[in-house]
Amino acid sequence: MDKILIEGGEKLRGEVSVSGAKNAALPIIASSLLTEGSCVFHNVPDLVDVKTIKKLLVSLGAAVEAKGNTLQVQAGIQQCEASYDLVKTMRASILVLGPLVARMGRARVSLPGGCAIGARPVNLHLKALQAMGAEIDLRDGYVEATTKGLKGTTIFFDTSTVTGTENIMMAAVLARGTTVLENAAKEPEVENLATALNGMGAKIRGAGTDVITIEGVTSLDSVEASIIADRVEAGTFMIAAAITGGDVVVKGCEPKHLEALTAKLREAGASIEINGSSVRVSGGNSVHSVDITTLPYPGFPTDLQAQMMALMTVAIGTSVIRETVFENRFMHVNEMMRMGADIVIDGNRAIVSGVNRLRGAPVMATDLRASASLVLAGLVAEGTTELSRVYHIDRGYERIEEKLSRLGANIRRVRE
Ligand code: EPZ
Repeated sequence: MDKILIEGGEKLRGEVSVSGAKNAALPIIASSLLTEGSCVFHNVPDLVDVKTIKKLLVSLGAAVEAKGNTLQVQAGIQQCEASYDLVKTMRASILVLGPLVARMGRARVSLPGGCAIGARPVNLHLKALQAMGAEIDLRDGYVEATTKGLKGTTIFFDTSTVTGTENIMMAAVLARGTTVLENAAKEPEVENLATALNGMGAKIRGAGTDVITIEGVTSLDSVEASIIADRVEAGTFMIAAAITGGDVVVKGCEPKHLEALTAKLREAGASIEINGSSVRVSGGNSVHSVDITTLPYPGFPTDLQAQMMALMTVAIGTSVIRETVFENRFMHVNEMMRMGADIVIDGNRAIVSGVNRLRGAPVMATDLRASASLVLAGLVAEGTTELSRVYHIDRGYERIEEKLSRLGANIRRVRE
């Protein structure tokens, strides 16, 4: 298993380009199942999770061809089962459920199961499909869905769910009649998916707001669409600049998608200049503690909570970080404390008292964003940090150690 070694203390300087968004690429690639036409997607990131969903589509019968960051998919469907051995490596595989039921009238998808950050149920996905006329059975750890034809209806999501909104939006594009999603997720990745679907001939209005209206059509065509920039990767590099007191230009991002983080970094004392699709972050010599509450978009993203906590461990003062989206997203806390951080967990709050310095240590990645937060802590810790289980970070970051090393970090990957 690979490890990442970091010698802390270097201030990051220079420019870094952001890759396509993992959480937009996954639903958009899944959406190619809805059409017999040829789909061409640009700016697809080279990530383990993207490799997984490509494998999943091939297992269903699709022809998939990658040329650099462009992906071509022709989804002839030979079978409608997404097997456990693929789904267990990536929960977002549930995103093939809606398209398969919509196009084929049936699907058998392994239940994704929980992960380190929470139980991650999909009950809202299933309840919505049932409301649209699908028969849903749970058997042997699989969801079995069948329908004689999905019908449009109004669906109110009990909680804002990103992949739930995406799954049902995809199911609705081929349903008979109109579907209205209320309390829909407003994340930019949902909007990116709607743009790709409308490019195929779907009729979706309101994506990016909490009410999305989908007028069913009988079939979809070919499409060429681009994946938006990854706001979580961009935010991770912005925090890397702040935590090392460096001066970094993050290029090819969408500053509008980063407003919650930008506001918090400014409040913490970093200076941020926005110039088109570039954001320049220069961390002063010290940052001050700020309080964070994670919320659905446009609130502070849960996917940047761990990274912001790393910054707060070396800030001046005490910060209260509340995680309201997932029930167990503090797996990085114990590892940070082994590096000398002073953090007390109280329910869904972490009270972080800034310390003068962190000490490098062997630490273990537990989930994707926790891994990124430990890399950030390693960048500023005294001595060597050795991060194991690096496969977690490769799920969501394209060669992160190469991008950081080009910014001056003393970081390298060792293959074990
Ligand atoms: C998406 O996960 C992202 N993944 C996550 O990113 C992200 O953290 C999350 O949205 C929140 O922004 C992808 O887009 C592939 P949710 P998702 O459904 O859709 C509860 C990363 O690091 N819920 O919005 O699975 C759920 O338990 C990953 O890139 C139900 O109760 O998240 C959670 O508490 C991690 N029932 C809350 O809603 C359901 O049927 C929000 O979850 C669905 C969700």
